[in-house]
Formats: sequence, structure tokens, C-alpha cells
Amino acid sequence: MSGHVLKKRPYSDEEAKNILANVMSKETTEWHYYTHHKGYVEKRNEIEKKLLEEKTVLLEKANANYSEFGELKRRESFNANGAILHDIFWENLGGDGEINKATELKKKIETDFGSVEEWKKEFKAVALSAKNSGWAVLAIDTHSDGKLRNLLVDEHGVGAIWGAKPLIACDMFEHTYYHKDGPKKATYIDNFLNNLHWERIEKRYKN
Ligand SMILES: [Fe+2]
Repeated sequence: MSGHVLKKRPYSDEEAKNILANVMSKETTEWHYYTHHKGYVEKRNEIEKKLLEEKTVLLEKANANYSEFGELKRRESFNANGAILHDIFWENLGGDGEINKATELKKKIETDFGSVEEWKKEFKAVALSAKNSGWAVLAIDTHSDGKLRNLLVDEHGVGAIWGAKPLIACDMFEHTYYHKDGPKKATYIDNFLNNLHWERIEKRYKN
């Protein structure tokens, strides 16, 4: 079984230390990627392997009160979503925060939120309200009405909307900002927004 692999960031490890310096400490650029992000990918593989290899026994004992199968399935989506959100998180970052580089998405943000400032204000409030192990996610709700929504996602999936495609994912797990900013979450969020790579985000929107 080949399994899932840690997705490469659109910049090197050395570049990350410089271009992400305003958002997180130099050490965090490595810890966050090679310990946390990679951890989700590896655990996802481990779980999938176990589900496959021990399928017969696991299925026989499946039940809602306690079963190894149930817990494996819960952790399967936790780790899968963790890996996906981190892929987007790294892809989002490394820019200059200039939204005029994403002309189409900027127009859509203005239509759906009133203005870029209004969107930012709500996105920041969502990030501040996520648990210390959660996310603020800008997503396009393609299944419902095609509108952009700021989603408050606890853990990696609680609060997500089926069919909505994530465009911007702001990691609010403490491992992201604590080593540089301590409990100053708002400072981290401002720096995150000022570091967004809007050309890549626009590309994600258009796809
Ligand atoms: Fe993280």
C-alpha cells in the first residue's frame, strides 16, 4: 500500500524561516510541518492499514458504545482533515497580504461580505472564537448557494459544511503561534492575514 504522503510546501524549509517569520517562530516552521502536519499523514496511513488488515475482526465487534472500529473511523477523518487543512494552511502563506492580486476572489468577497474589511473582521472573530485546537476557514459553499462563508471549525472537522470548498485555513491550534506570540492570538491572526499569498488563493478559488 503506497499511502498518503506529506504534501510539499510551495517554498523550501530555509525559505519558510524567512517568509513566515512574521507569523511563527523559525523553530515552529519545522515543528509544525515535520511533527504535527506529518503526524496527521502518518497516523492516517497507520489507521487505513489497520482497517484493511484487521477488517474481519474489527467489523465483527463494531458498536456505538465502544468499539475499536468506531474509534479508528473517528480518528481516520480527524487525521485526514488535519492533513488537508495543513496543506491549505502552508499554501495560503508566504505572500505579502496584497488582496488586489486576487481580483476575482476580491470581487466575490465584496459581494458576499460587503467589503474586504467586513470579511476580515468576521474572519478574525471566527479565529478568536475557535477552540485552542481549531480553525478559521474561508470556504465557498458550492453545494448550498455558492456563497463564501467563514467557518468556525473545532478540532479539524467539527463545524465544517459538506460540499463547501476551503479557500483559506487559519490554524488556531496553540502549536502554531505560542512559541512566538504566547497567548496573543489576535497578533498572530493579523500577521497571518498580512502574510497571505493571494495569487495562490485566487488560483484555488478559480479551480
Ligand atoms: Fe497545526
